[in-house]
Amino acid sequence: MKLDTRSLSHRAQDLLAGQSMPEYLIRQFEGSKDPYDEEANPDGYIGLCVAENKLVSEMVADRLNEIPMVPSSVLGYDAMTGSMRFREQLGRFMGRTFLGREFPPHQISVLAGAGSVLEILFHALADSGDGVLVPTPSYAGFWMDLEFRDELKIVPVHCSSGDDFRLTPELLDRAIADAGRPVKALLFTSPNNPLGMVYSADEIDEILDWARARKLHVVFDEIYALSVFGGREFSSCSARRTSLGEYVHIVWAFSKDFGASGLRCGVLVSENRAVNAAVDAFAYWACCSGHTQYLLGEMISDEVWIDGYITTMTAGLRDAYGRLTGLLDEGGISYVPAEACVFTVLDLRSHLTEQTWEAERELWFKILDEAGVNLTPGAACHNGEPGFFRLCYAGLPTETVEVGSRRLVTLLR
Ligand SMILES: Cc1ncc(COP(=O)(O)O)c(C=O)c1O
Repeated sequence: MKLDTRSLSHRAQDLLAGQSMPEYLIRQFEGSKDPYDEEANPDGYIGLCVAENKLVSEMVADRLNEIPMVPSSVLGYDAMTGSMRFREQLGRFMGRTFLGREFPPHQISVLAGAGSVLEILFHALADSGDGVLVPTPSYAGFWMDLEFRDELKIVPVHCSSGDDFRLTPELLDRAIADAGRPVKALLFTSPNNPLGMVYSADEIDEILDWARARKLHVVFDEIYALSVFGGREFSSCSARRTSLGEYVHIVWAFSKDFGASGLRCGVLVSENRAVNAAVDAFAYWACCSGHTQYLLGEMISDEVWIDGYITTMTAGLRDAYGRLTGLLDEGGISYVPAEACVFTVLDLRSHLTEQTWEAERELWFKILDEAGVNLTPGAACHNGEPGFFRLCYAGLPTETVEVGSRRLVTLLR
């Protein structure tokens, strides 16, 4: 039913006039009502389009359930960007596990998920109409985070399959020259969503040097920092410099590495005092609950458990990825090799009737309707070329992912 939005603000009318949720997610919500079940519904829907790690759910829930008492102190107001105790715990945990050094609590802000961190951080970094460079293929949600409420304009920097999706200073410079608006920042995801790619230390250095020479803010989204299972080690931007300086900011969350997207806990690390003060001023509208901070703080302070968890979590991803790619190899489906995250990108260009976005959409529908499998289409990741689809393999039991992949192989054969 069409909504009557006439009594609403122009902002809300504009928002509701567009499609606020990508089509593949709408189909995911619909499909989830008729899910696959080996016995009860063998032809049911298999959604391989949502980036979650459900393989660790039990392990994380079990550890949280061991935390015995919730102190009454978590009930009251506290600092809007997170309690001092939690930010200290985060500083130690993040420093030890992926940042390469410990940041003090005043350089750490906690908000309700990485999406809130991005929205509030960019509210502080750029004005309405300003441009932000985003290399593509990209995480689809950045458009919601930056364009909906911050009213910024994402300037895509298309990386090409012919060049192994490499991001080069030349591509970034060309995007700025063609942007037609002031560009304030680069938002760079490392490890990459959707490619599952880990960037080398040299590549991170190249980006840091490029941004510093142009005095541009660069936001490193390192939300998959711990979910690395391939040969190449993750290199955080913080480990590449003795100081981040005023222009480099890091975003992380519990959503991916701990499969805890429902707890809504995201983290910003920045040395820029003005940025931290502005984020603090906006934080009231996107706080993380004191209860959640308490539980997560206890969990990350158990260093023995954390080390075991990371080993088990990455081994689980390696296994699930190996089983998936074994099937894809057998079935003759090409993919871009991944070494991190919870997805891989299928190269289905040879299955398009022609190399157009329309043909990509047709293939996405065909896979959805005939195989009952929902992949993230490349258009949603703002790819520069049609035919690449993201397949998320850790959001469902591996056996179900295998059933979905076999259906895909049969259909495409
Ligand atoms: C690269 C990236 N950044 C941010 C987010 C948003 O995370 P959150 O659920 O913590 O808001 C996601 C979620 O998929 C993501 O993949």
